[in-house]
Amino acid sequence: METLTAIKTRRSVRRFSDQPVEPEKLQAVLEAVQQAPSWSNKQCWSLVVVQNQEMRNKIGELSFVESFFSTYGYKSNPAQKALAQAPVVIVACADPELSGELHGQQYYMADMGIAAENLMLAAHDQGLGSVFVGVFDEDQLGDLLEIPPGIRIVGLFPLGYPAVDAKGGPPRKPLTEFVHYDKW
Ligand SMILES: Cc1cc2nc3c(=O)[nH]c(=O)nc-3n(C[C@H](O)[C@H](O)[C@H](O)COP(=O)(O)O)c2cc1C
Repeated sequence: METLTAIKTRRSVRRFSDQPVEPEKLQAVLEAVQQAPSWSNKQCWSLVVVQNQEMRNKIGELSFVESFFSTYGYKSNPAQKALAQAPVVIVACADPELSGELHGQQYYMADMGIAAENLMLAAHDQGLGSVFVGVFDEDQLGDLLEIPPGIRIVGLFPLGYPAVDAKGGPPRKPLTEFVHYDKW
């Protein structure tokens, strides 16, 4: 798929069929993360690839953080079912010590954001779907997955074949709202 077409047609996918993900497609998604640019090429990421159904159910449950969602009137994370339904969940972790901090900005989050977009575009390119799930109980998930101390869990990515065709998706701001020329 042409790069700009992939960027423009990717949508968050939250409903998956039970069709398994071919190992070579999973490999291509993992290699897309491997190629992401990162602070000083430190590649701060580690990925936990979860395929076990019981584990995925549990991860889905841990994607509901009551203190966060109750503020918005949600009864669950919109992606909770997707985490149990998709045949693969990629848990994206980072070692902040392997990235930079400048003017109070933690660049491991930038590294992981770029890696996440590579992951989602590579999935989309191969006819797969995914969604960045950024809300979860990090402590309990860390215990479940035996994540070492100091390593942060940044995002969960259910991965599989979409059960429904992507529609237009949520609208974007017009360029005139966020692009400034020469000065703000
Ligand atoms: C950092 C981040 C965290 C997100 N967390 C969640 C989440 O917890 N649950 C969910 O359903 N979607 C989550 N999303 C997906 C966004 O809701 C989605 O990307 C946005 O609405 C735009 O839709 P699109 O991806 O289809 O273009 C997250 C996206 C980002 C980038």
